[in-house]
Amino acid sequence: MPNAISGFSKLTKSEKIEWLLDSYFADRETARQLVKQYWNSDEKLQKLHDEFIENTITNYYLPLGVAPNFLINDTLYTIPMAIEESSVVAAASKAAKFWYDRGGFKAEVISTEKIGQVHFIYTGDFEKLKMFFKDIKSKLIASTSHITKNMERRGGGILDIELRNKSENLDNYYQLHATFETLDAMGANFINSCLEQFAITLKSEANSQLEGDLDIVMSILSNYVPNCLVRAEVSCKIEDLKSKDIANPKIFAQKFKQAVNIAEIEPFRAVTHNKGIMNGIDAVVLATGNDFRAVEAGVHAYAARNGSYSSLTYCSIDDNVFKFWIEIPLALGTVGGLTSLHPLVKFSLELLEKPTAKDLMQIVAVAGLAQNFGALKSLTTTGIQEGHMKMHLMNILNQFEASVDEKTRIIEHFKTNVVTHSAVVEAIENLRK
Ligand code: MEV
Repeated sequence: MPNAISGFSKLTKSEKIEWLLDSYFADRETARQLVKQYWNSDEKLQKLHDEFIENTITNYYLPLGVAPNFLINDTLYTIPMAIEESSVVAAASKAAKFWYDRGGFKAEVISTEKIGQVHFIYTGDFEKLKMFFKDIKSKLIASTSHITKNMERRGGGILDIELRNKSENLDNYYQLHATFETLDAMGANFINSCLEQFAITLKSEANSQLEGDLDIVMSILSNYVPNCLVRAEVSCKIEDLKSKDIANPKIFAQKFKQAVNIAEIEPFRAVTHNKGIMNGIDAVVLATGNDFRAVEAGVHAYAARNGSYSSLTYCSIDDNVFKFWIEIPLALGTVGGLTSLHPLVKFSLELLEKPTAKDLMQIVAVAGLAQNFGALKSLTTTGIQEGHMKMHLMNILNQFEASVDEKTRIIEHFKTNVVTHSAVVEAIENLRK
């Protein structure tokens, strides 16, 4: 075990790597080569990536794939997806084509409100705090004018600030609960700057006007955005579900609906069901330079909004029409953050024809719905392993460093045989005998 190191961040990139090699690696040369192999030969591009975070030593690649044929509100998209899981892009593309042939996806943004809070402790009388808040509310808003003026010019800004009394849940705890419209920006910096200004104004006004101590605990946006909602949907007549993999559309529709209903009432299933949705959502969120951790946290909180963790998608069969839809909160941006910095993010946004944040909300929701459709279609018909293992076959072949010829022959063999890990290993061994 190495000794703790101080001043690590001040070392040069090479010095950091040397320290790592000295401290942790038996074969220093191989480790050094590996790290350097992933550097970009374009120094300017490498520097850009180095400076995204602290202590960068190299780049960590994820594949950027595309899923074509997504017809959304009558516009055709090819959706960029950054993800490592082998079957995700294939499943998205298959679902996109399936629904392209049936009129495509319909999507609509329901609301776009973002939230931030100033959390504070106050030891005086609540009625007095209420009066005080009423008096200073316009001052709170006015004090942020230097931050909000550009956003206001574009039609966004602070929507409202409420005083919330949380002292029944936690002694002396209150909030300024503020709502924002941040247009095409995800808005984290804008919201946090406004909140920190609210906190300064609140504290200084309280010092001069309020009896009892008022102490700011923290000011931060919330990643739970239940009023930044988007809905996406597919529907068709039951008989139109008939396809190569769906011989009996009526039975398929019923089973599919049962699968959704199970995820609605059974949290163990709902988590996996929603994980499949997030396979699609995260991949597009990442490709477009958005914060997938924020999206994940907010989406899962929304899935539990009624007190029990439940499905994010729904299904109905009425009057011979199969309908399948998703409703999720998504705080996304198409300006600011990484969007104008990361060259592949710029590429992805151009591929999506420079979407507004609202367009992107719709595209991302559709990617989640498509992914869930693909998963449930497989799960309720052939089972997931058939498609999953076919896509995973290449990973196993690469693990065994199969040659091009070996790959061709084994892929041919598994066109008519069931792919399992052991069957692939056996096939490789037989070939190499
Ligand atoms: C695997 O990444 C995702 C699935 O498990 C989703 C699901 O079960 O619905 C296939």
